[in-house]
Amino acid sequence: MAPAHSPLVFSGMQPTGNLHLGNYLGAIRNWVKLQETHPCLYCIVDLHAVTVFQDPKELRDSIRAAAAAYIASGIDPEKHIVFNQSQVSAHAELAWVFNCVARIGWLNRMTQFKEKAGKNRENASAGLFVYPNLMAADILAYKATHVPVGEDQKQHLELSRDIAQKFNTDYGVPDFFPLPEPVITGPATRVMSLRDGTQKMSKSDPSDYSRINLTDDADAIALKVRKARTDPDPLPSEPAGLVGRAEAENLVSIYAALSDQSAEDVLRDFGGAQFSDFKKALSDVAVETLVPLTDEMNRLLQDPSEIDAILAKGAGRARELAEPILRDVYDVVGFIRG
Ligand code: TYM
Repeated sequence: MAPAHSPLVFSGMQPTGNLHLGNYLGAIRNWVKLQETHPCLYCIVDLHAVTVFQDPKELRDSIRAAAAAYIASGIDPEKHIVFNQSQVSAHAELAWVFNCVARIGWLNRMTQFKEKAGKNRENASAGLFVYPNLMAADILAYKATHVPVGEDQKQHLELSRDIAQKFNTDYGVPDFFPLPEPVITGPATRVMSLRDGTQKMSKSDPSDYSRINLTDDADAIALKVRKARTDPDPLPSEPAGLVGRAEAENLVSIYAALSDQSAEDVLRDFGGAQFSDFKKALSDVAVETLVPLTDEMNRLLQDPSEIDAILAKGAGRARELAEPILRDVYDVVGFIRG
């Protein structure tokens, strides 16, 4: 009987610009819930961020802002581990081993690379291409078993599983690494742009009206919800009526997630309503949830040294977990250590 790996949660977010409602509903909210049932590591993946050039000062600010967002959302850095990736060298070291395990053909299939590299692939950084190998290293440096993410990370997690499986097979160490499970749950696993229901809400969208940032105040949230694109029909009374109405479906999913209900429940209450009324209710629930979070983030950011101390402490605890695993990996691979 194969030894089971103990349940352990790992997830991360890139500190590049503003975190937004998609990050919050697709990921952070689920991270907060998992703290009740699992030991968790929540990482700010600064090594991933520099696969695309980042201004050093802005990067430092964004790392602290991400840490503040995690904590303000309810992640407990005392009970669980919160840190930035570059402080734990095991991530980069294991990523090198995985660069030698993963196949170029696997990486060539990654849709996120294609999207991010755009037309000029020759000019993308080599780091952007091997980005998913580093992501596998993040998770497997701790032998984490569960990875809560939004829908868009599913393909990367499948690759992490393939890497774990190939390492175990190539080196004849069945069950050395667990095959990490994606945890993609809730009514808003893919929050779409407020301007175009076919595009993902994203930090890189040039229009700030496309997203609600975790730094937006009540007025900005209300304005963005009011300006969100919709269609002229009233809301349907059940989810089947949302088919082909991407913007309407997105707003209903956001409302459902923010108010902790299912889309069915929301439509039972709002079926037949005009968007003007629904948007008012949506804006109220968004303000109610996000404004206290933003206030707390701003409070935390007034003392950057406190945030740095939390990250340093988290990194120390993370290192203690990752280093013995990395030593075992090096032994398995056949490296000599003095
Ligand atoms: P990143 O920084 O793009 O996004 C962080 C998390 O937010 C989720 N997310 C969304 N969820 C729903 N709707 C959206 N519009 C939306 N936009 C973003 C993402 O799915 C993600 O969960 N590669 C990862 C970071 C990473 C990581 C890891 C994650 C690095 N190493 C190890 C898990 C485990 C990324 O770029 O996420």
